[in-house]
Amino acid sequence: SAAEKGGWSSFMAKEVAEQPDAVANTIRGRIVDGVVSIPELDQLGDDALRSIRRITVVACGTAAYAGMVSKYAIEQWARIPVEVELSHEFRYREPVIDDGTLVVSISQSGETMDTLMAVKYAREQGAKAISVCNTQGATIPRESDAAVYTHAGPEVAVASTKAFVAQITALYLFGLHLARVRGTLSEDELAAQVAELQAIPEKITTVLEQGERVGELAHWMSDTRSVLFLGRHVGYPIALEGALKLKELAYIHAEGFAAGELKHGPIALIEPGQPVFVVVPSPRGSAALHPKVVSNIQEIRARGARVIAIAEAGDAAVLPFADEVIRIPLAGPLFEPLLAVVPLQIFAMELSQAKGLDVDQPRNLAKSVTVE
Ligand code: G6P
Repeated sequence: SAAEKGGWSSFMAKEVAEQPDAVANTIRGRIVDGVVSIPELDQLGDDALRSIRRITVVACGTAAYAGMVSKYAIEQWARIPVEVELSHEFRYREPVIDDGTLVVSISQSGETMDTLMAVKYAREQGAKAISVCNTQGATIPRESDAAVYTHAGPEVAVASTKAFVAQITALYLFGLHLARVRGTLSEDELAAQVAELQAIPEKITTVLEQGERVGELAHWMSDTRSVLFLGRHVGYPIALEGALKLKELAYIHAEGFAAGELKHGPIALIEPGQPVFVVVPSPRGSAALHPKVVSNIQEIRARGARVIAIAEAGDAAVLPFADEVIRIPLAGPLFEPLLAVVPLQIFAMELSQAKGLDVDQPRNLAKSVTVE
């Protein structure tokens, strides 16, 4: 009903707007005096967290992209190899699992059948399992050794938004907890990352303020038939998520690519007028990724692409080559996904609305897939 939507045009619009709270509520109580601690993990014990040799993340859909984002952070902070697998691929390929494997499942509903079966299978093989879940008492957390709940509040729209940022938040807290327990980051390094995370809710609010402009862009583009998304490092899963949102909500053919793969295929798709969203890494980030992505933008622009760049405030290098620039506030490079995803969600939602579609209940999709 209209009342349940709290004055918003759709549940999705409401849930997009609730993202600062989703992140803040997921952090709440888990940072004490500047130190991350997740009491729910006490059940496993610090010794168990010190002795794990690798992490396998299992999830489906948007939750799997949250997992892909977390791989970059957990590996960097806790120096543990992390692999991310779609649950349905994981369980049917006889994965190598032992008692040094920690399986982390991610599920908003906690009821996705493929993810549940992946968790059960992994535990039968001797792995420990942690559930990152948004629904208290759901089946997956009950079938796991420990649960780290996201506190995004109930998500009604079929396409996941606030649960996604809450999942990344919970996984980052987990990564920082692991880094502290395993001694892989100094106190100062931990404190710096904690401060970055705590600053995210306010920065998401700043991104939401550009919603109207993104909406206008979507309305101009409402007859678009195909949209590409490029990203690199943590921006890569965000490109995949941007494409997924557009497919789910606006029924437009959309594909996300790792920017480094451009010359290995995707560039052949570029023809005059092809819209391409590019998630641009921070110029302050590591490994000189920024100039590489700027050069990707030049390459596609030279072939006529219509470039919409999502770039950090003050990044002037993209200006000569982008048709549109959507700005996100400065944040630590690992934290950019929590900001860059927001305009992509709004773009898909507004395009769906412009086409007169049902934003909250896209055709053929279910909020939670409880069958195989
Ligand atoms: C369905 C939903 C997606 C969601 C996926 C995983 O496909 O439409 O929005 O990302 O399931 O759901 P889960 O509840 O496991 O996070």
